[in-house]
Amino acid sequence: MALIIDKIREDFPILKETIYNKPLVYLDNAATTQKPQVVLDKLIEVYTKYNANIHRGVHYLSNKATTETENARLTVQKFINAQHSHEVIFARGATEGINLVAHSFGEKFIHAGDEIIVSEMEHHSNLVPWQMVAEKRGARLVKWAFNQAGELELNELEKLISDKTRIIAVNQVSNSLGTINPVKEITALAHRHQVAVLIDGAQAVQHLKVDVQELDCDFYVFSGHKIYGPTGIGVVYGKEGWLNQMPPYQGGGEMIESVSFEKTTYNQLPFKFEAGTPNYADSIALATAIDYLTALGLDDIATYEKELLDYAEAKLLTIPGLEIVGTAKKKTSVVSFNIKGLHAYDVGTLLDKMGIAVRTGTHCTEPVMIHYGISGTVRASFAFYNTRDEIDRLHQGLLKVIELFA
Ligand code: ALA
Repeated sequence: MALIIDKIREDFPILKETIYNKPLVYLDNAATTQKPQVVLDKLIEVYTKYNANIHRGVHYLSNKATTETENARLTVQKFINAQHSHEVIFARGATEGINLVAHSFGEKFIHAGDEIIVSEMEHHSNLVPWQMVAEKRGARLVKWAFNQAGELELNELEKLISDKTRIIAVNQVSNSLGTINPVKEITALAHRHQVAVLIDGAQAVQHLKVDVQELDCDFYVFSGHKIYGPTGIGVVYGKEGWLNQMPPYQGGGEMIESVSFEKTTYNQLPFKFEAGTPNYADSIALATAIDYLTALGLDDIATYEKELLDYAEAKLLTIPGLEIVGTAKKKTSVVSFNIKGLHAYDVGTLLDKMGIAVRTGTHCTEPVMIHYGISGTVRASFAFYNTRDEIDRLHQGLLKVIELFA
């Protein structure tokens, strides 16, 4: 069933805002998405009706908050089709999730002389933690370069895998290029060589249906705030077999089984990886966001967003001097571009004055910019609540910017 966008937009109060007296055109969804009223209402509900620390209380409020949090975990489990709910760990976001895996997996499974393959199109959050682990463990980081279109090629990956490779870290969708990577095939290839795979799904779960069992990935991470949920919450999925062998990431309350002054034994999954008071309010509201998205239907969302992307690329390419950075055959929801003779920052600043929000710069992917020999791009990134009218406004806005600089 086609999405009824006018009706959907009503669910997002911020979309009614005006910026400098102009209607907001929000095209920075890869940075963060806006929140539907149901998510905002859920946060109010938690804090006004059953706010209490979870897994610790005998009283009603604590039991209620605990039940709601564990129900949220079940919602996430179903959403990504994890085999077990204890394979779903709540973290602060995708960044913390990757740091958790890099640290704990690295501690147990990465040794001096081992290799970690990281793609050249990773967000810094899926590169820097691996650099840190490599340095700490005496391992070597191996770059999986992308081609000129911004695509990762499997035959290139095969050449990089050696008997020293321990893990491959790659995104499912690139935040600065929009490329959709063949993560199922990547995982299959890695597993033929007994290599683990971590997928950064921060730019994927809000656009594509994800089934971690079908992908067969070892780890999958994503953030709540990019999937119409709150900030400060994210998810790490890990296969039970790995997580059980990995040491905890942080020490503190709730991750323990028993503590004496001399020694601690650790709690079972998932609590072993959730030290301290968890962000239960945002976990609960994340589940509300997931329910909202699921009710719209990810297949319909993907179809609509693909149409929007095709429309935007065709329209923007009519602008003289505009060049799209990232022209992979399979893309979603991101158009990065530069206009000849104009600095991305100036373009973004002038668009802002017209009420149009885009991101400019390196998008936390400096290696991508180095690959293309550019200092940055202007990035328009779409959500299902965006419209062709908004893309037309971006197009007109860019023509105005060019005129101003002429
Ligand atoms: N990772 C976010 C982006 O791509 C912040 O903009």
